[in-house]
Amino acid sequence: MTPSIRRSVVDGSVLPSAVALIGALLGLGACEASGSCPPDGGTGAGGAGAPDATLLGAPFLFAPTSHGCGVSVVLERGSPVTLRARVRPNGATAWSDPQAPAVRALDLAEWKLDGLSAGARYQYEITTGPEPSAAVLYEGTFLTGRPSGAPFSFALVSDTHIGASPTYSNQGDPAILSSVSAQIQAASPDFVVNLGDVLDFHEYGFNDPPPDSSVTRQAYLNYRTTWGDLIGRAPHFGVIGGWDGENGFYTADEITRSRSQRLLYAPGPEPSTYPAGGSPFQDYYAFTWGDALFVVLNVYTYTPTPHKLDQNPGLPDDWTLGAAQLDWLRQTLASATSKWRFLLIHHPVGGAAGDPSDTAYGRGGGQAAYVGEQATVHALMRQYGVQAMIYGHDHVFTDMVVDGIHYTLPGSAGAPWMFGQDQTGYTTFWSDSGWGRVDVGADSVAVHFLSRTGQSLYDFTIQ
Ligand SMILES: [Fe+2]
Repeated sequence: MTPSIRRSVVDGSVLPSAVALIGALLGLGACEASGSCPPDGGTGAGGAGAPDATLLGAPFLFAPTSHGCGVSVVLERGSPVTLRARVRPNGATAWSDPQAPAVRALDLAEWKLDGLSAGARYQYEITTGPEPSAAVLYEGTFLTGRPSGAPFSFALVSDTHIGASPTYSNQGDPAILSSVSAQIQAASPDFVVNLGDVLDFHEYGFNDPPPDSSVTRQAYLNYRTTWGDLIGRAPHFGVIGGWDGENGFYTADEITRSRSQRLLYAPGPEPSTYPAGGSPFQDYYAFTWGDALFVVLNVYTYTPTPHKLDQNPGLPDDWTLGAAQLDWLRQTLASATSKWRFLLIHHPVGGAAGDPSDTAYGRGGGQAAYVGEQATVHALMRQYGVQAMIYGHDHVFTDMVVDGIHYTLPGSAGAPWMFGQDQTGYTTFWSDSGWGRVDVGADSVAVHFLSRTGQSLYDFTIQ
């Protein structure tokens, strides 16, 4: 099959000529102004002379399918209209024709690589300047979706809590995500999942929205760069948490403030990406990979009541997915054919923790299996053979089995706050920062809890 690249669908409101003009203005040198230009001008391999654009961090791979993958690129300097992407099977000599990007913002280019073969590794390059002497700004690889029967590994992180301001202290520590990222890259998983609280806005109040979209944009840029090289080599899937600026008790404008920036700078699957469909806001969706179904859920945006710990705790049983998402979950599970079935969510749709406030805040994992709407979700998991609900929120590692279903929490990868038994109610847990590696085989699924230094904390098997 011949690889091809098609342009993303965008709103079309940005004319290429206008982008070129503004891009030239942007090319006046953001990195010179900040003093952060790479010594070689960011030429990377190949190319002649200084390139007319430099990238901010690695490309962000997203929404991989059996036949393609999304690539999002942020520019530190220059215009997105100067960029091209090309792809080839790993080890091949001939590249696809270079393709122009969809321009998502003045600093943002996006491609959807398509026409690829399933379960195969591909190389891609981001270039700038005219052929044949175009400068290579980045070269990476990715794997397309595995067919049924193929074993694979994926990585789990949660609660990275990356903020907009690097000098503010009461938020996630980027050094933790950096070290976890290096560990994950060494393990070479097919993809990574962040289980939510990707960002953090403590600087602006407790579970209050950020003051404007530029704050969210900067936090997502910090998040991308903190990952380092990994997100250019392993596609990213996101889950909405309570610190991602999209809580259901915010006004529509406040939600849009952060959602708009996520759709730009941390994109995910669209409803048309996978057969299971999902939300146009890319906040719930489902995909299959090998013999596994992954269903990503959003417990925050469709819960209308505030949950702000002691300030305004709310109720442990008024969390909800909303009728549309719950119906979609039921349909998705009813039509599932994969052997392995996982739900990914920031926390169960109810709480049962160590104290009343933390209970109302949605803590406690499997302790909440029968609380509020989680009882409905738990019944669906039993009915349709879901093996695990994988969640975040409580910033520790733990695993609890309820009616044969694992409630699995793979720690946190940035949060400075580790919650103890008084808050969570857990009697067995690990407080290290770290991540989870999951090896999906034909007969079993092995889950590994790993510290930020790669130390094994706990392993278990799902059968
Ligand atoms: Fe968190």
